[in-house]
Amino acid sequence: MPPLNLPPVKEVAKIPGDWVEERSGLVSVSKYFLFRNVPRDISWLQTLGSALITVFIVQVTTGILLAMYYKPSTEEAFDSIRYITDEATLGWLVRGMHKWGSSVMVILLFLHMGRTFLFGAYKYPRELTWISGALIFILVMAMSFTGYLLVFDQRAYWATVVGVNINGTAPILGPFLSEFLKVGPEFTTETLTRFYALHMLVLPAAITGLIVLHNWLVVRLGVTSPPWSKHRATKGDV
Ligand code: HEM
Repeated sequence: MPPLNLPPVKEVAKIPGDWVEERSGLVSVSKYFLFRNVPRDISWLQTLGSALITVFIVQVTTGILLAMYYKPSTEEAFDSIRYITDEATLGWLVRGMHKWGSSVMVILLFLHMGRTFLFGAYKYPRELTWISGALIFILVMAMSFTGYLLVFDQRAYWATVVGVNINGTAPILGPFLSEFLKVGPEFTTETLTRFYALHMLVLPAAITGLIVLHNWLVVRLGVTSPPWSKHRATKGDV
């Protein structure tokens, strides 16, 4: 029998990637994002941003799982949380990951901000990277605030009452913001539903968009060398 003239396995494995690339260019875009030059004296300090992306993905995934069981009404919210914790399969784990993940995200945000500040990475030409980061920071704080009420136990309720009242004392926009969050004079199911919509739709969508912009800028401008580096770029030398 004559030998079969098959292409090598390596060539066959490339076919799906080539198919996608030819139609969308997605492979080149991914390569542009993933394979790029970084300063030679880069360290673990420059991995905090990637750690933040990872925690954000964990938060979104566990949040979607929680949303499948959570009921945003004043009568049912607390019981649905109790059901998730005590009865749903691995619900305690998913809820625990979401709760602790939120604290990890805030801690990482401070560390990442501190690192970029101390390395002077907010200066020209990275001002927009810093501004987009600062906006993400505000939105992550809003995520913590809106998420806190959802458990709807005594602590969550009173902490949010205090938070909304403090917001209300801010000049000009304060009273509008407080009215918008409460949806009326009392905390009702409408209030809880509004917090839930902000927490699981509006804020994550805005944060996702800003993370894409932030990382587009990081890829475009490159990562800063440490201040003590001999290879540090000077102004005008991006
Ligand atoms: C969810 C939030 C955030 C994510 C996912 C994120 C992601 C990243 C990533 C992956 C990098 C490149 C690697 C690194 O330097 O660690 C980076 C760089 C940077 N980030 Fe963030 N970041 C976030 C929040 C922030 C905040 C709050 C600020 C400041 C207000 C900030 C300012 C910057 C700056 C200035 C750089 C450029 C650093 C350099 O060139 O060395 N980021 N970010």
